[in-house]
Amino acid sequence: MKRAFTLHLRQLHAFLVLLEGVWVKSLLPLAICKETESDRQALLCFKSRLSGPAGVLASWSNKSFDVCEWHGITCSKPCPRRVIALDLESEGMSGSISPCVANLTSIARLQLSNNNLSGGIPSVGLLPRLRDLNLSRSNLEGKIPSSLGNLSSLVDLRLTGNNLVRSIPESLGYISPLQILALTANNLSGTVPPSLFNMSSPTFLSLGNNSLVGRLPHNISYTLPNIQTLVLSTNKFDGPIPASLPKVYNLRLFVSFTCITTH
Ligand SMILES: *[C@@H]1O[C@H](CO)[C@@H](O)[C@H](O)[C@H]1NC(C)=O
Ligand SMILES: *[C@@H]1O[C@H](CO)[C@@H](O)[C@H](O)[C@H]1NC(C)=O
Ligand SMILES: *[C@@H]1O[C@H](CO)[C@@H](O)[C@H](O)[C@H]1NC(C)=O
Ligand SMILES: *[C@@H]1O[C@H](CO)[C@@H](O)[C@H](O)[C@H]1NC(C)=O
Ligand SMILES: *[C@@H]1O[C@H](CO)[C@@H](O)[C@H](O)[C@H]1NC(C)=O
Ligand SMILES: *[C@@H]1O[C@H](CO)[C@@H](O)[C@H](O)[C@H]1NC(C)=O
Ligand SMILES: *[C@@H]1O[C@H](CO)[C@@H](O)[C@H](O)[C@H]1NC(C)=O
Ligand SMILES: *[C@@H]1O[C@H](CO)[C@@H](O)[C@H](O)[C@H]1NC(C)=O
Ligand SMILES: *[C@@H]1O[C@H](CO)[C@@H](O)[C@H](O)[C@H]1NC(C)=O
Repeated sequence: MKRAFTLHLRQLHAFLVLLEGVWVKSLLPLAICKETESDRQALLCFKSRLSGPAGVLASWSNKSFDVCEWHGITCSKPCPRRVIALDLESEGMSGSISPCVANLTSIARLQLSNNNLSGGIPSVGLLPRLRDLNLSRSNLEGKIPSSLGNLSSLVDLRLTGNNLVRSIPESLGYISPLQILALTANNLSGTVPPSLFNMSSPTFLSLGNNSLVGRLPHNISYTLPNIQTLVLSTNKFDGPIPASLPKVYNLRLFVSFTCITTH
C-alpha cells in the first residue's frame, strides 16, 4: 500500500515536470523577451493618441498578447521578436503621432502616410535602424524637428503634402545614407541649408511647391553627384540658374523658377 502510494507520487511528479516543460516552452518566446514587452507598451502608448474607423486598431489590445499578430505590424523572426515595421498607410486614422514611437528601437520602416494626423512630428531621438519614414499627406503641422537628423540610417524620408512651416533643418543634410528626400507641397520657408545641396547619396530630392528663397549654388551638379531627379519648382528662388545644371542632369530633371533675375 505504501509502495503503491510512493509510485503514484513519483508518477505525479513526472507528470508535473512534463507539464512544466510544456508550459515553460509555450510561454518562453512571449514571457522571456522583455524587449518584445517594451515594444508592446510603446505600441499601446502610440495607439492611445489615435482614433480610426472601427476595426483598424482593434487587434492592438491587451487581449491579443502577441504584438506580431497585430494589424500593420511586422516583427523580426528570431527571439527576441522585435517590431521592425509599422505600416498604417491610408487607414483613415486621426489623432497625433505619439513620441512613444521613440521606444520602438528596432523599427526599420514607419509608414503612416495618407491619414489625418494633426499635430507635429515628434522628436523621435535615436532610432538607429530606421530606413524608411513616410509621413506624406498626413495633415501634419509645425516645424520639421532638427532631431530628425539623428536618424542616421534613413534612406527614404517623405514628408510631402503636409502643412509644415519654417525652415528646413540643416541636420537633414548630414544623414549620409539618405537617397530620397521629398519635402514637396508644404509651406517651408527661408533659405535651403547648404548641407542639403552637399549630399553624396541622394538620387531624388524634391523641395517643390514651398516658399523657399535665396540662390542656388552655382555648382550643384558637383555637390549632388548622384542626383537623378531634382524638383525645385514653385518656390521663390532668385539669382541665376546654376551653370552646372544642364550639363550633368540628363535624367529626369525638372527645375523651374517662379522668379528669376539673370546677371
Ligand atoms: C493593458 O495592460 C497594462 C498593464 O500591462 C495596463 O496598465 C493597461 O491599463 C491595460 N490597458 C487596457 C486597455 O486594458
Ligand atoms: C520609453 O519607455 C520608458 C520605459 O517604459 C518610459 O519611461 C519612457 O517614457 C518612454 N519614452 C517615450 C518617449 O515614450
Ligand atoms: C509614401 O506615401 C505616399 C502617400 O500615401 C504614397 O503615395 C507613397 O507610395 C509612399 N511611398 C513609400 C516609399 O512608402
Ligand atoms: C481630421 O481631424 C480633425 C481633428 O483632429 C477633424 O476636425 C477633421 O474633421 C478630420 N478630417 C477628416 C477628413 O477626417
Ligand atoms: C538629436 O539632435 C538634436 C539636434 O539636431 C540634438 O540637440 C539632440 O541632442 C539629439 N538627440 C539625441 C538623443 O541624440
Ligand atoms: C502646392 O501645395 C498646395 C498645398 O500645400 C496644394 O494645394 C497645391 O495644389 C500645390 N500646387 C502645386 C502646383 O502642386
Ligand atoms: C505659409 O506661411 C506663411 C507664413 O510663413 C503664411 O503667411 C501663409 O499664409 C502660409 N501659406 C499657406 C498656403 O498656408
Ligand atoms: C560639403 O561637403 C564637403 C565634404 O563632405 C565638406 O568638406 C564641406 O565643408 C561641405 N560644405 C558644406 C557647405 O556643408
Ligand atoms: C562649389 O562652389 C563653392 C563656392 O564657389 C566652393 O567653395 C566649392 O568648393 C565648390 N564645390 C565643388 C565640389 O566644386
